[in-house]
Amino acid sequence: QPPALLDGHRRRFHYLRLSITEVCNFRCTYCLPNGWRKADEAHPASYLTVAEITRLVRAFAGLGMSKIRLTGGEPAVRKDLADIIAAVAATPGIDKVALTTNGWNLRHRLPEWRAAGLTNLNVSIDSLVADDFHAITGHDRLADVLAGVDLAIGMQLPSVKVNAVLLRETAARGFDDWVRFVRRRPVSVRFIELMRTGDNADYFTAHHVGGSVLREWLEANGWCRAERRFDDGPAVEYTRPDHAGRIGLIAPYAPGFCDTCNRLRVTARGKLRLCLFGDGGLDLRDLLQDDADIPELRARVKSGLLDKAAAHFLHRNDPGATRNLAQVGG
Ligand code: GTP
Ligand code: 5AD
Ligand code: SF4
Repeated sequence: QPPALLDGHRRRFHYLRLSITEVCNFRCTYCLPNGWRKADEAHPASYLTVAEITRLVRAFAGLGMSKIRLTGGEPAVRKDLADIIAAVAATPGIDKVALTTNGWNLRHRLPEWRAAGLTNLNVSIDSLVADDFHAITGHDRLADVLAGVDLAIGMQLPSVKVNAVLLRETAARGFDDWVRFVRRRPVSVRFIELMRTGDNADYFTAHHVGGSVLREWLEANGWCRAERRFDDGPAVEYTRPDHAGRIGLIAPYAPGFCDTCNRLRVTARGKLRLCLFGDGGLDLRDLLQDDADIPELRARVKSGLLDKAAAHFLHRNDPGATRNLAQVGG
């Protein structure tokens, strides 16, 4: 086991979020309200190939990374997703192969992804009310997505989670349907506080609601903060004895949120991003063309990490280069 990768703030990194495409087929109101458009691409270059991804993951595994999460855009729009999962899963040192998806083809594809080596699945579901789901994502597919989640539970994937962006209107409906959802399902539902990005400033003003709304509701309704497990990410989770699942909160505006940061990001075009917000990224792609470059790639990542800031600067109201999260991979 290689020594852990550390930054200048004594944080350890074992988890890489790798975006494999910026393309998405949904139109979430807070992210890509007009859908993904080729014309919006800053650099119309191709995304990382399976061969480039294979080298990248090998390099990061050699730096102590053990978990790779595939993100997008929507990763499942890539026809070679199963090959990518298989390449990541076959890399020595990688024991968790995770996917974040909007779930659009989950029920049809999951068996193939599981066979390729997928271990952790996070599915985005912003509302359990079909009309609201449709209004938020632009697609009337709630039932399909839910069938995919239930299939994943049935297949006993080691980890199944649901992400819901906390919006003023869905918070106003209350959380009872989510409580029913986790009563028998062993899944963590994590509400993500809406983040302001370059493209959604007005939307943010109209729809952002602080995570304390949920926290106070949970604490008043018999939910208890779960003990943090070693290497847990930024979600704070709550349990209730009579419920199989958990309800959690990812509150990026909360003080100390970045203190437990354990992840790095690589964009779909091969740039190392040290934070969801901030820099445009350190290009790694020139070193992904030949196995012989892997040692140099590791050295570049190690020295690049020294620039990682102590915290994001969301509070400054300046999202920097981050126009929407589809561009960075959440
Ligand atoms: P696990 O690996 O299961 O712990 O999930 P995760 O939270 O790392 O992954 P997921 O893709 O489900 O992330 C959920 C969302 O939380 C992301 O898409 C972001 O919106 C938000 N999030 C995750 N990591 C960060 C982070 O480092 N900074 C900020 N600001 N938000 C984050
Ligand atoms: N704020 C909070 N969460 C967001 N996501 C996308 N954009 C935003 C935003 N501006 C969420 C998606 C998905 C996860 C990958 O990130 O809904 O659940
Ligand atoms: Fe697509 Fe995810 Fe953005 Fe929704 S939040 S538009 S599913 S990338």
